[in-house]
Amino acid sequence: MKFEDVKTIGCLGGGVMGGGIAQVFAVAGYEVVVRDIDEAAIARTRHAIEDGKWGVKRAVERGKLAFDDALAAMARIRYTTELAPLADCDVIIEAIPENLELKQKVFAELDEVIDPDAIFASNTSGFCIQELARDVSAGRKERFLGMHFSNPVSVMRMCEVVWTPQNSPEVIETARRLAEAAGKEVSLVRDTPGTYGFILNRVFAAAAREARAIVEAGIATREDVDRAMITGRNWPSGFFGGRGGIGKEW
Ligand SMILES: NC(=O)c1ccc[n+]([C@@H]2O[C@H](COP(=O)([O-])OP(=O)(O)OC[C@H]3O[C@@H](n4cnc5c(N)ncnc54)[C@H](O)[C@@H]3O)[C@@H](O)[C@H]2O)c1
Repeated sequence: MKFEDVKTIGCLGGGVMGGGIAQVFAVAGYEVVVRDIDEAAIARTRHAIEDGKWGVKRAVERGKLAFDDALAAMARIRYTTELAPLADCDVIIEAIPENLELKQKVFAELDEVIDPDAIFASNTSGFCIQELARDVSAGRKERFLGMHFSNPVSVMRMCEVVWTPQNSPEVIETARRLAEAAGKEVSLVRDTPGTYGFILNRVFAAAAREARAIVEAGIATREDVDRAMITGRNWPSGFFGGRGGIGKEW
């Protein structure tokens, strides 16, 4: 699948990440199909994309998106609880919960019904891509990689494209250019069995381990560790929900 041939993106899962991914591709001019499991989930997805804090209407208010472009983007997104509307998508980006067995099962089901030429991409935070692709056909393995966006997708600029030895160069290039078309910077990452996380989460986890070790050894308090990183390194948040933090302890 060449980049130029991609017209329709399927988003599997319309939660925090799937909704954001649907939004950025719709804004970029792609037709988008979002599939979630029930009507309540679909209603939440639509609300987040249209009226949410990081949605298109707020982007218009903040001067980031023209009004007409927001309307056009909303009109490009179809919502469904069925698998069938995904069948003709050129690229499927999976953003269902971070559960290896669930993802493997769903990818195997999708492999049966989706156009054999379509690319499968997982937004997993860190599972080995080759493990996720375990039960799909050999042909699909060539077109199966990771596209790891950051939250909130409409704001954060990174997409880690995680490639496997089975991928063709064309597929890696298509994923890279797609992420760029959605306004993202791309870092390429080699899929590595036996590890969890790509660049972002591995580096962050290492720093978080060190922060906890400093606190546990009584070297500094949680507040002092957060203050040091926020004011000394300009990190937007600390590890312990400190000032400017996201209220989450790592
Ligand atoms: N939240 C983050 O900050 C973040 C950042 C990067 C990557 N990720 C990864 O993205 C993925 C999704 O995370 P999230 O935070 O969006 O989760 P979420 O819980 O907000 O959304 C998951 C959605 O998937 C739906 N779902 C479950 N089974 C499904 C199926 N079979 N078909 C279609 N939809 C299904 C759920 O109903 C839910 O709406 C995970 O792999 C996560 O590790 C999350």
